[in-house]
Amino acid sequence: EVVREWSGRLQLEQTLSKILHIKEVIIVPGNVDTNTNATMLLSQEAAKFLESILSNDKIVAVTGGSTIASISNFVQDTTKWKNLMFIAARGGVGKDVTLQANTIVSLFSNKTNGSYRTLYMPDSLSEEAYTTMKKEPFIQEMMDLYEKTSIIIHGIGDAEEMARRRNSSEEEIERLKENGSVSEAFGYYFNDQGEAVHRIRTIGIQLKQLKNIEHLLAVAGGAKKAKALLSYFKQAPEQTVLVTDEGAANEMMNII
Ligand code: BG6
Repeated sequence: EVVREWSGRLQLEQTLSKILHIKEVIIVPGNVDTNTNATMLLSQEAAKFLESILSNDKIVAVTGGSTIASISNFVQDTTKWKNLMFIAARGGVGKDVTLQANTIVSLFSNKTNGSYRTLYMPDSLSEEAYTTMKKEPFIQEMMDLYEKTSIIIHGIGDAEEMARRRNSSEEEIERLKENGSVSEAFGYYFNDQGEAVHRIRTIGIQLKQLKNIEHLLAVAGGAKKAKALLSYFKQAPEQTVLVTDEGAANEMMNII
């Protein structure tokens, strides 16, 4: 029984990685929407994968969100790595500091004996602030680090949920709906064809930089995110590895 279930899952993993055009899909049992145990399994599996690709002198960029925040709990305490650096892929989102990339990088670096760099600024900037900030030396330094990044760990969100978490105005949310936004990642909103239809004015890693990054680890689960995942993966770099759950995987199969 157990074996059959597991082999069914392997099949689903392979089918989905072909459909999503990415390197690998790893599916954990359950559905994070309704089952906290699935959240733990998802984080555990993501941590295990991360540990398998870490090596000395690597720069790892990290986004925020509840999923990514929980991964650090499952990374083992170790001093075996030299010169690991975790950097925030963006500024803050919403009000909850525990879910911000800036906080999460420190958690990862504490576990792995690494260092970290933060990006303390609002997630969404005015045009003037954006233009001025971009010239600041510390921002330039972050931009250089993004160029040297070889691993990125990121979440994927439902467009409307992320807009609400960012306290976007009703007007902005309406605009996102008009644009057909379905998913959100890295501050970009994507429609169901995977086209970036909106981007919040933020300092952070750029979509075009993702292509050159050796390892992209996307972690997102729950049937509720199925549509968002299908949207984001219409354009995701093919070296991406997705760690997800049965809830999202089955729902994606239902939709397509
Ligand atoms: C963050 C990303 O990592 O996770 C966002 O920066 C994404 O782009 C979000 O939408 C999803 O958050 P959660 O809490 O659902 O994991």
